[in-house]
Amino acid sequence: MHRKKIILDLDTGIDDSIALAFAALSSEVELLGVTGTFGNVDTMTGVRNALDVLALVGRTDVPVLAGKTCSLAQEQFCRHAESARIHGENGVGQANLPRSPRVVEKEPAVDFLIRMMNEYRDGLTIVTTGPLTNLATVLLRDPLLHTWRGQVVMMGGALTVRGNVTHFAEANIAQDPEAAKIVMESGLSVTMVPLDVTMRSRLRSSDAERWRSSGSDVGRLFGCMLDYYIANTLGADETYIHDPSAIVCALHPEYFTILPFHMTVETEGVDRGRTVVDHRRLRDRNPATKVCLDVDAGQVERNLANIW
Ligand code: BDR
Ligand code: CA
Repeated sequence: MHRKKIILDLDTGIDDSIALAFAALSSEVELLGVTGTFGNVDTMTGVRNALDVLALVGRTDVPVLAGKTCSLAQEQFCRHAESARIHGENGVGQANLPRSPRVVEKEPAVDFLIRMMNEYRDGLTIVTTGPLTNLATVLLRDPLLHTWRGQVVMMGGALTVRGNVTHFAEANIAQDPEAAKIVMESGLSVTMVPLDVTMRSRLRSSDAERWRSSGSDVGRLFGCMLDYYIANTLGADETYIHDPSAIVCALHPEYFTILPFHMTVETEGVDRGRTVVDHRRLRDRNPATKVCLDVDAGQVERNLANIW
């Protein structure tokens, strides 16, 4: 089977961890590396979680690299209380993941991304499930990469629904609107997987129960993490499928209704962090950015039901 070359760029909280485990175990994915960013947790906690998740699923061959530690506009990352509530103090729902003896690679994530993007000019997909700071920094550092012909699939934004941080802004975009604007307007082929679709698909307490009863350590720990996430997000026995939807979209875009739009991001005023169609470009042909507006939720849910 042809496996898709993927790099994951994560702010490893609970749904990022599920996305990572899913990609790491998928026979459809060749996982080239994991780059870490801030958001649900600080960058170093996030890469630590990624190392532990990879060890848990037996993928200690995948390199993990640490990326930017705060947004383009700030000098320091300040974690929102809401992130600690949803993902737990340690980012993985207070689960005691066995500590991986591995350490993060010496190469910075941005250098790694630049190297990989130059090596694979078109045969690579970068899936982002956190703020877009690493990718924006790549473009600022190496403007020639604006002509890169690979794919970016990003979980983030909201087009037809309201945001989940402010009325307008979704969390990953809200963390670094300037970075998101750079990426959206870059000319890279970006597929946005926004709240419009991620909130239509659900993981349920029955999935957590099934994962737990698989008898493996990984199933038990992920079952606990999912229960924690359900209790602190939607409640009522189910939750949205944000980050794992981006992996499913990268592998199976046919499950989604995807429309081309010239997207941009508002960076000023009350709608700072809002993802919108660029009104200046309404008559321009062939947008590089696309937006998922509907999804066959059953397909996404089936993909995630039996990971272990
Ligand atoms: C996004 O925000 C984070 O809390 C989740 O991990 C996901 O990437 C959803 O808005
Ligand atoms: Ca995330």
